[in-house]
Amino acid sequence: MESHLSTVRTRCGGLKSQHTSVILGCDEPSSVPELAGPLLETRDLQVRFYDREGCTHAVRGLSYSLDAGRSLAIIGESGAGKSVSCRAIMNLLSANATVSGSIRFNGMELLGLTENEIRSYRGAQIGMVFQDTEQALNPTMRIGPQISEAVRLHTEFDRGRTFELLSQLQVSAPEELVAAYPHELSGGMRQRVMIAIALAGNPKLLIADEPTRALDVMTQAEILALLKAVQSHFGMAIILVTHDLMLAANFADDILVMYKGAAVEYGSTGQLLADPRMPYTKALLTAIRQLRRAPT
Ligand SMILES: Nc1ncnc2c1ncn2[C@@H]1O[C@H](COP(=O)(O)OP(=O)(O)O)[C@@H](O)[C@H]1O
Ligand SMILES: [Mg+2]
Repeated sequence: MESHLSTVRTRCGGLKSQHTSVILGCDEPSSVPELAGPLLETRDLQVRFYDREGCTHAVRGLSYSLDAGRSLAIIGESGAGKSVSCRAIMNLLSANATVSGSIRFNGMELLGLTENEIRSYRGAQIGMVFQDTEQALNPTMRIGPQISEAVRLHTEFDRGRTFELLSQLQVSAPEELVAAYPHELSGGMRQRVMIAIALAGNPKLLIADEPTRALDVMTQAEILALLKAVQSHFGMAIILVTHDLMLAANFADDILVMYKGAAVEYGSTGQLLADPRMPYTKALLTAIRQLRRAPT
């Protein structure tokens, strides 16, 4: 279903509002009290990018909510706005982005927070796993120190915590793994390391942006099973971004389908599969059923 979706370049209405910037890193753990209500709630989220050629309206009025410990899959074809909407939560968009609407996490409005304030959420409250492990890991550093560094950002240094995380991720030879460099690992093992790093701060929400896209089908299934297992062990909520409806259906409690920056369908997985409303979702389901019927 990867296809033709071209960048939506329009004259964007509305005013430039909160400015976002890219500064990676984390701070001390924050002590955000748990409140009643959804863990994460976005309301009318809009993201626009401005450059010399004009404006790209990448996310158009996205509203959803996610309760603690639950899972939401965001699906849609390439360019639909999945990654941009997730990066907006973490304030990880490029400097030419403007974001408006509302992103409430644990009752606290994240839009408008300063970079220092948002750092206490990033990693500690909200962890993120990206598709591209090669860019995210430092090629010149062994795996052990990379995980320990993430642990140390959030808690007092504890060598045991690195091994606890690796054991949750069912790494069979953790001593060998921590001594290795990223290029010595398979894609699946690198993704396990990324998940360990994202879990280091014991976040309440894990955002996994196409974490299995670069992996073969068997390894994809392994990584998704691991994500499920760590979710039930640590009790966190997960947003899984994927372009694969069946993968989403097997994983998540709820599914949100994005098309050209907007949510075109949103509901519980069972309801969405049984009674898809939008032509786009119906077409996805028809394609899957045809594939399943096709002789091999
Ligand atoms: N830094 C940027 N500047 C301008 N446009 C961008 C930028 N980042 C993303 N976009 C545009 O936003 C839209 C959504 O992108 P993205 O969220 O990455 O899609 P996907 O659903 O594949 O994850 C695309 O049209 C993309 O070209
Ligand atoms: Mg993406």
